[in-house]
Amino acid sequence: MKIIKAESAGFCFGVKRAVDTVYKCTETGTDEKIYTYGPIIHNEEVVKDMEKRGVRVIRSEEDLAALKEGTVIIRSHGVEKRVYEELEKKGIHIVDATCPFVKKIHKIVEKHSEQGDRIIIIGNPDHPEVQGIRGWAKSPVSVIRNVEEAESFSCPADQKICIVAQTTFNYNKFKELVEIIEKKSYDVSVLNTICNATKERQTEARSIAETVDAMIVIGDKHSSNTQKLFEICRKACNNTYYIQTLGDLDLNQLGSVETVGITAGASTPNNIIEEVQNNVRIIF
Ligand code: F3S
Repeated sequence: MKIIKAESAGFCFGVKRAVDTVYKCTETGTDEKIYTYGPIIHNEEVVKDMEKRGVRVIRSEEDLAALKEGTVIIRSHGVEKRVYEELEKKGIHIVDATCPFVKKIHKIVEKHSEQGDRIIIIGNPDHPEVQGIRGWAKSPVSVIRNVEEAESFSCPADQKICIVAQTTFNYNKFKELVEIIEKKSYDVSVLNTICNATKERQTEARSIAETVDAMIVIGDKHSSNTQKLFEICRKACNNTYYIQTLGDLDLNQLGSVETVGITAGASTPNNIIEEVQNNVRIIF
C-alpha cells in the first residue's frame, strides 16, 4: 500500500508568509487589537482559529471607516493604495503581508501609469487581488478576462499600453488575450506576472492522479483553486474525493485501493493535510 503526497500541496509561499505573520502578531502579548483586511485565506478552519486568538476580520468599507486603533494585517492578495493611506491617516499600525509577487505588480502599475501608460489587467475584475492592483494606477485601467473583452478593447491609437496579469491567471489564456490586443497595433509592453505556484500544484496533482487508484483533494469548498484542482484530478482519476477536513472522508471507501494520492489547495493548512495522511496510513 502506498500513499503519495504532492510536495506542492497546501499553502504557497505568499499565503504561508501571510498566515505565519498573523500568528506571530497574536503571540506578541500586547492588548492591541489585531485585524486582517479581509479573511487572510479562503479557509474557514484557519479563519475560525484566528478568531479564537482574537483576530477580527475587516469585511467592509463600514468596518474600515469604524476602525480607530489597532494593527491591521494586509493579506497576500494586497490592497489598493488608498487603503494604506486611510489606515495611516488614522494612525493604525500596518503589517504588510502582501505577497512580494503581487507587490511587484503594484509597483509596475504605479510606475507605468505615472508615465501615462494605459493599464490592462488580465484577470477577474471581482477578485480582490485585481481590485488591489487596480488601485495603484494613476491612469485609466481596463480589466480583461475573456476573448470578447479583448476583442472589443480600444483606446486612442497613440496611447501606450502596459499589460499585467492576475497572479493566478491561466498562462495559455493570458497569451491568447495578449495576442488579440497586440494585433490592434498599439505600442504594448507585456509583463507576464503570473505566479508559477498554482501551475506547479496542478501539474503535480495531475501526474499523481494519473498513477493512483484513489485521489484525495483537500481544501475549502469555496476555494476556487481547490475546485480546479479537484476537476483536474477527477479527469485523471475517477476515484477522486474532495474534502475540507478528515471528517468529510469516509475511510471505508478507500478499503480496496492500493495507492492513494493526496493534494491540497493553496489555502489548506499543513496540519489538516498531515491529519488526513496519517489516518489514511492507519487504515492501510
Ligand atoms: Fe504569491 Fe503566488 Fe501564492 S503570487 S500568494 S506565491 S500563488
